[in-house]
Order: sequence, then C-alpha cells, then structure tokens
Amino acid sequence: MVKIREAREEELLKVGRLWGKFMAFNTEFNSSFRIKKKAPEIFSKEMIEKIKDSSCRLTVAEIDGEIVGFCYSYISHKPKHFKLEKFGFVGDLYVEEDYRRQGVGRMLVNDTLAFFSKRKVRQIELLVAIKNIDTVRFWESLGFSHLLTWMYKRT
Ligand SMILES: CC(C)(COP(=O)(O)OP(=O)(O)OC[C@H]1O[C@@H](n2cnc3c(N)ncnc32)[C@H](O)[C@@H]1OP(=O)(O)O)[C@@H](O)C(=O)NCCC(=O)NCCS
Repeated sequence: MVKIREAREEELLKVGRLWGKFMAFNTEFNSSFRIKKKAPEIFSKEMIEKIKDSSCRLTVAEIDGEIVGFCYSYISHKPKHFKLEKFGFVGDLYVEEDYRRQGVGRMLVNDTLAFFSKRKVRQIELLVAIKNIDTVRFWESLGFSHLLTWMYKRT
C-alpha cells in the first residue's frame, strides 16, 4: 500500500538521494541539470529549514517502509504589479522508475494540491524540461496547461 505523508527530518538524506536521481534523469535532456557530487547532502541540509516553514511542503510516498517518491512545493509571490499575488510552485517531483504508472505521482500531486487549497492558493505552476514529453503528458493528464517556454543561450 502507498502511504503519502510529510517527510521527517531523519529521512532528508534519502530524499536528497532521490533528488539526485531526478537531476540525473533531467541531465538526459540538458546538461544544465548536472549536479555536484555532494549535491544530495546540500539539498538535504537546505531542506531541514524548509520543512519547518509553513509555506513549504515536502511530501513522500512510502511503500513497504521504502521512500519511492517525493514532491517538494512551496507558496511564492508574484511581483507587486500583478493582480495575481500568491501562487503555488511545484519545485521537484520524482517517483522511482520501478514504481511508475501506479498512480504514485498523481497521489503526491493531489496531496500537494490539497496543501495549496488549504492555504487558498488558486494557481499552481511548475517547470518541466521541454524534451521530457512523458512528464508533460503526466501534467496534462492532471489538468495543467502550458504557460511559458523557458529559453536559454550559452555564450
Ligand atoms: C512524472 C512522474 C512523477 C509521474 O509519476 P507516476 O507515478 O509514474 O505517475 P502516475 O502513475 O500517477 O500517472 C498518472 C497519469 O499521468 C499520465 N502519465 C504518467 N506517466 C506517463 C507517461 N510516461 N507517458 C504518458 N502519460 C503518462 C497518465 O495519464 C497516467 O495515468 P494512467 O497510468 O492511468 O494512464 C514520474 O514519471 C517521474 O518521476 N518522472 C521522472 C522525473 C520527472 O520528470 N519529474 C517531474 C518533473 S516536473
């Protein structure tokens, strides 16, 4: 059975390692996602403060005592001239390859949407690598639409 719940401080290194896998996955699409060797440790240290912050949420999916996926999200604010003030941002979402297509990703997102809804956040945004077509399909299946294309150039 899948258990969806908030991450505990003692699990942050495990989540950091999953995050490292997420970045390795993204590196297949673009080298901008390459990370330093110590990045999972850095990620988990930064998360210690974030999980205490009421505008952030780190959710994990647990199956048979193993963490198989996570979602990190937070409430952010638009520049003052926009009518839309606060919005929810899904920073990271990852499910281990062996556990995909079993509804775990959808459950993690539903938990995140409930977190935003409780705080009256009415718009949720995220970024996805443009070549990550499967994940684009995932978000579309959950009712998300395309808003921007993030462009870059190296000099
Ligand atoms: C994206 C991701 C989190 C989805 O997790 P998941 O547990 O496999 O997703 P679910 O099983 O909940 O899928 C829900 C629906 O999304 C759609 N979907 C999911 N994966 C898909 C794929 N590979 N191709 C097409 N549609 C897909 C389907 O409609 C699916 O419903 P169905 O299985 O009943 O057809 C997972 O594939 C992943 O970790 N990918 C690598 C990291 C990544 O891209 N993260 C997101 C960054 S924004």
